[in-house]
Amino acid sequence: MKVDVLLGLQWGDEGKGKIVDVLAPKYDVVARFQGGPNAGHTLEFDGIKHVLHQIPSGIFRDKTRNIIGNGVVLDPIVFKTEIEKLNKYNLNVRANLYISKKATLIVPSHRLLDQAYEKAKGVDKIGSTLKGIGPSYQDKIGRQGLRVGDVLSENFEAKFKKLTEIHFEILKNHAIDFNWPELEAQFFEAITFLKGFNLIDSEYFINDELKKNSSVLAEGAQGSLLDIDFGSYPFVTSSNTVTAGACTGLGVSPSRIGEVYGIFKAYSTRVGSGPFPTELLDDQGEKMRRDGNEFGSTTGRPRRCGWLDLPSLKYSIMINGVTQLLMMKADVLCEFPVIKVCTHYKLSDGTITESLPYEIVNQKIAPVYTELPGWNTPLTGVTEADMPKELIDYIHFLEKALEVPITLISIGPDRKQTILRSKVKA
Ligand code: GDP
Ligand code: IMO
Ligand code: MG
Repeated sequence: MKVDVLLGLQWGDEGKGKIVDVLAPKYDVVARFQGGPNAGHTLEFDGIKHVLHQIPSGIFRDKTRNIIGNGVVLDPIVFKTEIEKLNKYNLNVRANLYISKKATLIVPSHRLLDQAYEKAKGVDKIGSTLKGIGPSYQDKIGRQGLRVGDVLSENFEAKFKKLTEIHFEILKNHAIDFNWPELEAQFFEAITFLKGFNLIDSEYFINDELKKNSSVLAEGAQGSLLDIDFGSYPFVTSSNTVTAGACTGLGVSPSRIGEVYGIFKAYSTRVGSGPFPTELLDDQGEKMRRDGNEFGSTTGRPRRCGWLDLPSLKYSIMINGVTQLLMMKADVLCEFPVIKVCTHYKLSDGTITESLPYEIVNQKIAPVYTELPGWNTPLTGVTEADMPKELIDYIHFLEKALEVPITLISIGPDRKQTILRSKVKA
């Protein structure tokens, strides 16, 4: 069997959690391959909303095994809180969750460093979630990080001390307040908790499952425009959020990749700093934020909102090799009489282009829009058979421009508010 990948094509928060939960019954294994507690993946069913940060979104399906892969940075304190929140739902979490020994650990001083670096950047700050993502990946790449498997070694405390002393040397130069004994105690309590879980060589686990013909879904975090290589650098996260990240973050060969589900909102949002060519700073943007409840799942920050941006979507589709598109939050646009779509960029020298320019941060990019009529009707209870004509036209317009079929339309946050388009099924 192959590994199918589901990932965001925009700046994150496209609705990955909802769709992984919808697709999970089709999969034996769901695996996160990068990112960490900066992610906030929302699932809704039976009138309850759940937000997962590090635990894969297949956890509510009792036949699905869930893996936190080697490419993830794991904060044991956040992990403990997440598991405790799930306790009341009677899930078989201890049996159905596996964690790679090669996943990198986030220690409390990574969060302090994140704060220090952001503060030092001043107005140029990234707008990080401050979960310690950048500093923990820095330590991984700098070959001094701690990994989940290290918690099983006798000298784990000494390794922790050695790493945190390096951090304290840096923190000396920054005015960050913290109570270390408290943070340390919290960390070690969480480490004891973590040791009670299945800590495994997940690359063997996944490849053995593939040999046994099990189906595997890789769940991306963040979005392609936040990718460390291809996003709007430096306003990005610190991992490869694209399909290739699933290979390195799980230990599966590129030849094993099957379907690539690219998920996008019917409009655009971004949280944190950085370029956003189609951003709406007016009443329309405010309306999208209100109707779409566009507030961060992890930090609660208001998300910046704007129209759909085809040059960047095409770029994401190209980098990821997307085979199916999934369009989310179509319901949010139901009161917009006119829907705009950016088809090209006008650069500061007057050039009109469909490509993302290298200089995206220090150049004013003006979107060139096409206007389409809105559907002007609520989508509650709508099925494939009775979708409004204007919505169908919008879908056809996008499929033509993007050259990839849109196989799923989401019309609300609940699991059930999902339309699978039968005619275009790949
Ligand atoms: P993720 O990070 O990609 O999993 O996305 P988030 O969970 O951060 O943000 C998506 C938000 O949109 C969540 O609050 C979801 O409950 C909500 N959502 C998902 N799909 C839809 C949809 O089709 N319509 C509406 N109105 N909300 C949706
Ligand atoms: P999910 O998986 C949206 C953004 C932050 C910031 C930048 C760097 O829920 O889609 P970091 O904490 O990684 O140092 O932040 O990336 N960011 C996200 N935006 N959704 C996310 O995850 C994000 N994870 C990070 O806002 O701009
Ligand atoms: Mg999110």
